[in-house]
Amino acid sequence: MGSDVTVRRLQAGDVEGFRALRLRALLDTPTAFGSSYEEDSALSEAALLARLAGASAVFAAFEDGAMVGMAGFHPQSGPKRRHRGLLWGVFVAKEQRGRGLARRLVEAVIGHASQHALVMEAGVTVGNQFALALYESLGFRQIGRLPRALFVDGVFHDEILLVLDMEPSAPEV
Ligand SMILES: CC(C)(COP(=O)(O)OP(=O)(O)OC[C@H]1O[C@@H](n2cnc3c(N)ncnc32)[C@H](O)[C@@H]1OP(=O)(O)O)[C@@H](O)C(=O)NCCC(=O)NCCS
Repeated sequence: MGSDVTVRRLQAGDVEGFRALRLRALLDTPTAFGSSYEEDSALSEAALLARLAGASAVFAAFEDGAMVGMAGFHPQSGPKRRHRGLLWGVFVAKEQRGRGLARRLVEAVIGHASQHALVMEAGVTVGNQFALALYESLGFRQIGRLPRALFVDGVFHDEILLVLDMEPSAPEV
C-alpha cells in the first residue's frame, strides 16, 4: 500500500506546490487547522520558505510528481524552549486517504524532529478520531483538552493536546 508514493523533505524549489497543497488543506478541512485559508493565502514566499529551512521542516508525499500529502515540524526558539516543537499541517488529499500516507509523513517528521527537539506537541480537534488514533499509535499521549480552541464558521471546537517524548539522543538541542 502506498509503495509508489515517495515521501521526502520539501526544498526551496517546492514552494509553490507547498502553497497549493496547504491552501487545499485549509479549504478541505478548516476545523483541523489553526490558520485560515485567507491568512495563508496572504503569506509571502519568504514566509513559506522559512517553514522549510533549518530545523523547521515540511515532509510531503508525491505520487507521479504530484504533492498529495504533507506534515510539518515547527521548532520553538530561545534557550528555555528550543527543546520543544510542534507537529503541524498534517494533511492527505481525499483520494489518497487510508493508504498509510499520514503515518509515513508523521514518522518522517518524528525522525527529523528527534534531531532537533526532545518534546513534540500536537493538537487534534475533538471528533477527528483518525488523526487522534494515528498520533497515539505513534507514541503521542494526551495531556489535556483546550476548550474553545478554534472558532470556525460560527462554531467553537475543543482541541485535544498531545505530546511525544523523543529520544534524548538529539545532538542539536
Ligand atoms: C487524518 C488524515 C491526515 C489521515 O490520513 P491518511 O493518509 O488517510 O491516514 P493513514 O492511511 O496513514 O491512516 C492512519 C490511521 O488512521 C485510521 N484511518 C485512516 N483512514 C481511515 C478510514 N477511512 N477508516 C478507518 N480508519 C482510518 C487508521 O486507523 C490508520 O491506522 P492504521 O495505520 O493502524 O491502519 C487525513 O484523513 C486528512 O488529511 N484529514 C483532513 C485533515 C486532518 O484532519 N488533519 C489532521 C490534523 S490534526
